[in-house]
Amino acid sequence: MRNKKVVLGISGGIAAYKCAELTRRLKERGCEVKVVMTDSAKHFITPLTMQAVSGEMVSDSLLDPQAEAAMGHIEFAKWADLILVAPATANIIAKMAAGIADDLLTTLLLATDADVAIAPAMNQQMYAHAATQANLHTLNARGVQIWGPGSGEQACGDVGAGRMLEPMELVELVCAEPVEQLLKGKTVTITAGPTREPLDPVRYISNHSSGKMGYALAEAALALGANVNLISGPVNIKAPANAQVFAVQSALDMHNQALTLAPQSDIFIGCAAVADYRAADIAEQKMKKQGDELTLTLVKNPDIIADVAALTQNRPFTVGFAAETQDVATYAKGKLKNKNLDMICANDVSVQGQGFNSDDNALTLFSAHDEVSLGLMNKSKLALTVMKEIATKLI
Ligand code: C5P
Repeated sequence: MRNKKVVLGISGGIAAYKCAELTRRLKERGCEVKVVMTDSAKHFITPLTMQAVSGEMVSDSLLDPQAEAAMGHIEFAKWADLILVAPATANIIAKMAAGIADDLLTTLLLATDADVAIAPAMNQQMYAHAATQANLHTLNARGVQIWGPGSGEQACGDVGAGRMLEPMELVELVCAEPVEQLLKGKTVTITAGPTREPLDPVRYISNHSSGKMGYALAEAALALGANVNLISGPVNIKAPANAQVFAVQSALDMHNQALTLAPQSDIFIGCAAVADYRAADIAEQKMKKQGDELTLTLVKNPDIIADVAALTQNRPFTVGFAAETQDVATYAKGKLKNKNLDMICANDVSVQGQGFNSDDNALTLFSAHDEVSLGLMNKSKLALTVMKEIATKLI
């Protein structure tokens, strides 16, 4: 959207020094930017700098008759298409969650009906604190968009989550096209990640699935307005804030949860790398080392997605994934038919840099009568494209 009217609210964190760059890049992309600073922000970057880059007077006081005469604070709040608080400190996040309005920025945030986004930036310990997490949760539930934070080295020397997203990442988010709510009112259930099949109390059989693709699909379905159930095996990534997460371990756990949720869902996506076999017997005590060889007897796990697709009542639109190393189209089409799926998303995992554990992927979507190829892209973009394809099949 050209001429997007952005109020950039700067609060007092070291990342404020990046706001000059952020403002310049937003203006390059055709945004109008008005800057509001808290008192503590002025210790990190000067109002003069922000005035020079934005080309506008910087607002910092609620009680300034001259500023009020030029544009009253309510009028100011109405002017904005978006208020972006960047950096958003733990303090301003807490004030927003509590509805405190004790300076110009927090007052605008209460007085606006524009979109509001925040780019949290703080020490990793402050970010992880239960109070901050609860405040972010409150803001998210109210529709505030939470952009970031990123992870990495922090100005204080700590390493962890709490870095403000880079200016260009924020510019992309500000200028992103609004996503049409194609799945509003629909429920989407997604399985993701690996399963763990126990052998004894301390050992299991598993695989390298990172869960990234399934989590990206959950994020995409949420962006399209769906309610999302995410049935997840053990992974090391953060779940989207608004998904209902059901943490499971084994294929049997996942099967139970999937068959409970599938009949209440409009769409079911099996993205998990489910172990095909489990141990026939799970040893009650840790198995002892004995002999040079060990023979395990494995038995077949239920095929979760095939059981969902076989539902005779309340069967959701069922989408599977097929990771193949050869004859991708033939095997994928075979699974589409044998498992009675509505769509299968096939990827060639023999190609380096896509599929398992990677941030990128390429897919071909097969359904009964058509075939859509989606080239290599990051899993977030790919997930949104896949969800949109699924949505068009439902309409
Ligand atoms: O048969 P294959 O494992 O290649 O099929 C992949 C598809 O089937 C994926 O969608 C996967 O999540 C699903 N699947 C399942 N339960 C199994 C095995 C695979 O839901 N036991």
